[in-house]
Amino acid sequence: MNTIYFDSPHDDTTRRMNLYAGQVYVFSPTLAGKALCAFAAEMCEDAFAPHAPQKAQHHLGVEEYVQILAKLKPAFIHHPECKVLIPKLLDELRCDLEQIYFDVPRLRTACAGDYLSSGLAYAFKPHRDTWYSPPLCQLNWWLPVFPIESDNVMAFHPHYWDTPVRNSSHQFNYQDWNLSGRKDAAKQVGKDTRVQSEALEPMDLQPEVRVVCEPGGLVLFSAQQMHSTVPNTTDLTRISIDFRTVHRGDLEEGREAPNIDSESSGTTLMDYLRGTDQQKFPDEMIEALKSSKQTPVHPNSVM
Ligand SMILES: [Fe+2]
Repeated sequence: MNTIYFDSPHDDTTRRMNLYAGQVYVFSPTLAGKALCAFAAEMCEDAFAPHAPQKAQHHLGVEEYVQILAKLKPAFIHHPECKVLIPKLLDELRCDLEQIYFDVPRLRTACAGDYLSSGLAYAFKPHRDTWYSPPLCQLNWWLPVFPIESDNVMAFHPHYWDTPVRNSSHQFNYQDWNLSGRKDAAKQVGKDTRVQSEALEPMDLQPEVRVVCEPGGLVLFSAQQMHSTVPNTTDLTRISIDFRTVHRGDLEEGREAPNIDSESSGTTLMDYLRGTDQQKFPDEMIEALKSSKQTPVHPNSVM
């Protein structure tokens, strides 16, 4: 990464090619972005009432907190309103809805201090999303639901864009993980024992770049981008939304970010819904990728 574009008027094709080359885009709040975040905020406020969502961790025991998240997160993720608002947001930002496929939005919570750093509030260590079996043309869209600060956001580690990291992605198969991992997340309080793709060598996280934008605004970046959750040293829980997109033409024609070090296998392709009508990718495309394994430019991870 050498450039962060703010409110760039680039068309989506130019933007995607820059994203695949490691650049990052940041946008001010849009109408649909604000609506999506307001909708998430309302669900959070209902779930944590009478406590403010960002302060609820200071009033609730960990078990009770996790139980609230266990209901709140799936309710948001699968709410039909999200499937209305996300295509609106993509349209506002000049995506071709015939070509763009999106997955359901995740609701993330990064608690202050060491209150909770596993399971449903998994604190993401430095990673690339490419270590988790997506197409290499996947893009990530990240929006804060409530105001954020430098000390409770996510960070990019741009020097790793073209520097491979020894990692355990060779152990990660999305189909296997879906069967065994996700359904156990609500039980993971304290220590997270699920198999995750992660770095297997010490990393130098400096220099890092933290982007602070307003709720309803967003950060857009490639799945190849090395990023992490910063230690939350504020006293407020950070609550954010993220979702992923795949451009069908880019997938079919191999326009994508370079695979620097991922050997994950399987595919997430069945998770994405077309912008126009929420149709999934054709079965034959999904099946062809289910048995695939990513081949990095720098094989590194097998020990
Ligand atoms: Fe990520």
